[in-house]
Amino acid sequence: MPRLAFGVFQPGGPRQQDTTAAVLTALEAGFHHVDAAAMYGNEAGVGDALIAAGLARDEVFVTTKLEDQAHGATEAPAALARSLERLRTDHVDLYLIHWPVPDEDQYVETWLSLQSALADGRVRALGVSNLDAPQLTQLIKRTGTVPAVNQVEIHPHLQQRELVAFHAAHGIVTQGWSPIARGRTLDDPTLEGIAVRHGCSVAQVAVGWQLQTGGAPIVKSATPSRIRENMGAWDVCLDEADLRAIQALDGATDGPASRWAEMLVTRPSWHP
Ligand SMILES: NC(=O)c1ccc[n+]([C@@H]2O[C@H](COP(=O)([O-])OP(=O)(O)OC[C@H]3O[C@@H](n4cnc5c(N)ncnc54)[C@H](OP(=O)(O)O)[C@@H]3O)[C@@H](O)[C@H]2O)c1
Repeated sequence: MPRLAFGVFQPGGPRQQDTTAAVLTALEAGFHHVDAAAMYGNEAGVGDALIAAGLARDEVFVTTKLEDQAHGATEAPAALARSLERLRTDHVDLYLIHWPVPDEDQYVETWLSLQSALADGRVRALGVSNLDAPQLTQLIKRTGTVPAVNQVEIHPHLQQRELVAFHAAHGIVTQGWSPIARGRTLDDPTLEGIAVRHGCSVAQVAVGWQLQTGGAPIVKSATPSRIRENMGAWDVCLDEADLRAIQALDGATDGPASRWAEMLVTRPSWHP
């Protein structure tokens, strides 16, 4: 899995053509991993970009996610089929259960219903998103299988170190969504200082920090110059003092993004 992914969530509602343009720019800029979701409403725009880019299918790693309304033994495989149709591909490289929807407690059943898609290659790897350690433990215990990935919110203000250690102990890859906290980390004075010293942008420091510490960030932009800038996060080389300073920022945000644990119980309306 290419560790740096391009996200396509569009706050305010999807515009398929904008999605297609952004994904094409991202592919040109060097992203090889597109992170989509049925819930974002723009898988068709991603599919159009995959066709228009003219790349071989195996040159792009495509992730998409099961919408919350489609949990259950029959609903989940049907939802996957609809996603593949919209994405205009016969398989996805990674399919994630977007949210455990703990109130319904169907994610284990949903997970089991997707095993046949894994077996016949429609899904190359199966993972989850936004599960905490007890939910992961339950999934592993009840199914005897381990998710390839758990995609959770990670940025300098919300580092999730315990959960990342749990993932590492179980062989689960951590993917970090909102690596710049939707812009809220951009005026952090510590990150600004590091960016000035390295002659790069704050966004590059935030994304580069995950890359350099072994993470797999998913960053979104609809702005061509920022899409290219974010790919430049690979060039940032943080030193030990930078890494220590960033580690000390954990917990610094009091905005909605830091209420991740609460969201495991109740999904707020603002969340994709
Ligand atoms: N699994 C989940 O539950 C979940 C939840 C949330 C997100 N995700 C995934 O993770 C992806 C990224 O998360 P996100 O979209 O929430 O947040 P993000 O990538 O942290 O931030 C995106 C915001 O930052 C701006 N931005 C991007 N690059 C910038 C730069 N270099 N300089 C200044 N501003 C910049 C973008 O503006 P412009 O677009 O205007 O340039 C946009 O407003 C999503 O698209 C989605 O694929 C998954």
